[in-house]
Amino acid sequence: MQMRHHLQFPPTNGKDLDQDEVFFYVRDAEETVKLRFHDYASIYDRRGLYEQLFYDRLKCASPKKVSTMLAETLDSVGQNLTERRVLDLGAGNGMMGEALKQYGVARLIGADIIPEARDAAYRDRPGLYDAYYVEDFCNLSPSTTEELKSWNIDCFTTVAALGFGDIPTSAFLSALNLVELGGWVAFNIKETFLDESDTSGFSRLIRELIFSECIDLYHLEKYRHRLSIDGTPLWYFALVGQKSAEIPPDFLKRKEIE
Ligand SMILES: C[S@@+](CC[C@H](N)C(=O)[O-])C[C@H]1O[C@@H](n2cnc3c(N)ncnc32)[C@H](O)[C@@H]1O
Repeated sequence: MQMRHHLQFPPTNGKDLDQDEVFFYVRDAEETVKLRFHDYASIYDRRGLYEQLFYDRLKCASPKKVSTMLAETLDSVGQNLTERRVLDLGAGNGMMGEALKQYGVARLIGADIIPEARDAAYRDRPGLYDAYYVEDFCNLSPSTTEELKSWNIDCFTTVAALGFGDIPTSAFLSALNLVELGGWVAFNIKETFLDESDTSGFSRLIRELIFSECIDLYHLEKYRHRLSIDGTPLWYFALVGQKSAEIPPDFLKRKEIE
């Protein structure tokens, strides 16, 4: 049976806080602990807390949405998700991996920057991943890069992990560089990313990639990612595209993206 935690949201609303600064309390037998939404290590260490917070209480729909869109896009072009060798970056404790496995994939490779994510995935979803790398994709060693290449990755997913201080642009690009030409990419991003006024590195990178020849956009859809702690819908875009050209090594520099 899934373990239940005693969660409490603070009395003040989270409107002035960025998504990564929002906090809550979790009460266990001995103490009440204040955690920020981005205290991933402490959240993953408490079995079931991540699912209870983001999925039960805040109704996160993103792994289901992005995996379904990916499967349907592949279906529409006569390809099968079941044959794909997928790298899931920012895999956390395996929510996206689990959603992908509902469809079936040929290989599932997880990656995250903190060991607590891998440990929680192995603890809570044993056998889900064929391999799980704890790596900083901004600084992959040549030997890890070679090992990752040996999986012949032809699909790259990242869900609820872009922007707000999570995966940096250079880490995203090094994962994209591992994907074979003609491979697929599926991820979600906050709703403002198409606005010129959103000058954050990530939004600019995604816009540049879509308008370059590197990613061929197949499906873009706005949907409710989850609720804020005040019950307000947080709207995101889910995006599915095909890698249509290698990314030039100086892409970020040329576009002046941090
Ligand atoms: C909100 S969780 C999303 C987890 C999972 N994809 C899901 O949908 O439930 C974000 C994850 O991104 C990971 N992350 C943050 N920065 C990262 C980086 N630079 N490289 C890889 N993973 C990162 C965090 O450790 C965390 O596990």
